[in-house]
Amino acid sequence: MNILVTGGAGFIGSHTLIELYQAGHTAVVVDNLSNSNPVALKRVAEILSIPAIPFYHVDIRDREGLEKVFAEHKFDACIHFAGLKAVGESVEKPWEYYENNIGGTLTLVDVMRMHGCKNIIFSSSATVYGDPAEIPITENCPKGQCTNPYGWTKSMLEQVLMDIQKADPGWNVVLLRYFNPVGAHPSGRIGENPNGIPNNLMPYITQVAVGKRKELGVFGNDYDTPDGTGVRDYIHVVDLAKAHVAALQCFSSKFQVPSSKSQPSTLNLKPSTIYNIGTGHGYSVLDMVKAFVRVNGADVPYSIKPRRAGDIATCYCNPAKAKAELGWEAKHGIDDMVRDSWNWQRNNPEGYPEP
Ligand code: NAD
Ligand code: UD1
Repeated sequence: MNILVTGGAGFIGSHTLIELYQAGHTAVVVDNLSNSNPVALKRVAEILSIPAIPFYHVDIRDREGLEKVFAEHKFDACIHFAGLKAVGESVEKPWEYYENNIGGTLTLVDVMRMHGCKNIIFSSSATVYGDPAEIPITENCPKGQCTNPYGWTKSMLEQVLMDIQKADPGWNVVLLRYFNPVGAHPSGRIGENPNGIPNNLMPYITQVAVGKRKELGVFGNDYDTPDGTGVRDYIHVVDLAKAHVAALQCFSSKFQVPSSKSQPSTLNLKPSTIYNIGTGHGYSVLDMVKAFVRVNGADVPYSIKPRRAGDIATCYCNPAKAKAELGWEAKHGIDDMVRDSWNWQRNNPEGYPEP
C-alpha cells in the first residue's frame, strides 16, 4: 500500500516508516517539524538503504498544502500521528492543543474524503481510559475523565472519527490506544528527542544516566502498588510501529475478524475499530530504574518526590484483541526497552544535530 504518514518525522512515526518499508509498503510524510527534525527522515532512509523518504514540510491545518500532496500521490490509507503531545503544555495552552489536534484532524479528514481515501489509523492513547474502571484494561473498559486538554483531544477525536465512520460506511477507522512507548531502533540512529525537560519517565532516566540531569524525581512511593510507585505498560517503539503495519490489514477487503462463539464470522466483516497496544505487563517506576541500571551498568540517582497531579496508580492493558484479530503482539521485553533507549541516548546525547 502507499501510505500517507502525518507526523512521520516524530518519534513513533519515524520508527513506523521503517516497519512499513520493510513490510513492502511505501510512504509519504507530511510534517510541520514543530516537534521533530528532518535528520530523522534522513536516518530512516539510511537504515532502509533507500535514497530518501518522500517528505512535505506541510502543516495538516493547511488545506492547500495537503491538497498539493494529494494531487501528487494516490494513497491507500493514512497513518495519522501528527499532533501536539505535551501534557503539561496542554494545560497552559488549551486553545493551541484543540486547534492543532482537532482542527488539523478535521482538515486532514476532509481532504482525504475529497480524494477518496477513507482509511485511517489514528494514534490514540491509554489516557482516554482516565482512571481505568478495570485492570488489565480491555477495549470494553469505558472511557473516563481525562485530566488535561491533551487527553481530551484524543478522546474527542476518537468520537469524531467514529461518528464519521458511522455516517459513511465507506470509511474504515482504526483507533490504536498506545500504552507507554519507550525504546528506540536497535541501530541507535533514531529515537525520542524531547524538547526541554522531559515529561515522561524513560527520557528522564536516560538524560540522568548521560549526565544531563542530576537525579530522577520519582513521583510518589505511596501508591497502592507492589513497591508504592506508579505502574505502567511500557511498550518498545519497534513493537508499536509493527502494530501499525498489522492494523493496515483492516483495510483489506479480505480482512475478517476471527469468529468467536459470541460473534459468528459472517456478522463480522467490518473491522473492529479499537485496539489496545501494550504488552499486558505492568512495571513500576523503580522496576524501570533497576532494569536500566542492571542492563546498562549506568548510574541513575533518584529521590522520592510528591505525587504528580493527574497521575494514576496502575495502568496496563489486556492486549488479547490485537493478537486475536491482527495477529500482532509485543515481542520486546523490559531489557530490550532499557537497552535500546540507552543506546540511542548514549550515541546522541544532544538528540539529532541541526539539519
Ligand atoms: P512526536 O511529537 O515525536 O511526533 C508528532 C509529529 O507531529 C512531530 O513530528 C510534529 O512535528 C508533528 N506535528 C504536530 N502538529 C502538526 C501539524 N499541525 N501538522 C503537521 N505535523 C504536525 O510524538 P510521538 O511520540 O511520535 O507521537 C505520535 C502520536 O502518537 C501523537 O499523536 C501522540 O499524541 C500519540 N501518542 C504518543 C504517545 C507517546 O508517549 N509518545 C502515547 C500515546 C499517543
Ligand atoms: C503520560 C501522560 C499521558 C500520556 C502518556 C504517554 C501525564 C499525567 N500523563 O502518562 O497523558 O498519554 O504519558 O506519553 O503526564 N514518573 C516519575 N518521574 C518522572 C516522570 C515520570 O516518577 O520524572 C512516573 C510517573 O509518575 C508515572 C510513570 O513514571 O508513574 C510514567 O510516567 P510518564 O512516562 O509520564 O507516563 P504516564 O504518566 O503514564
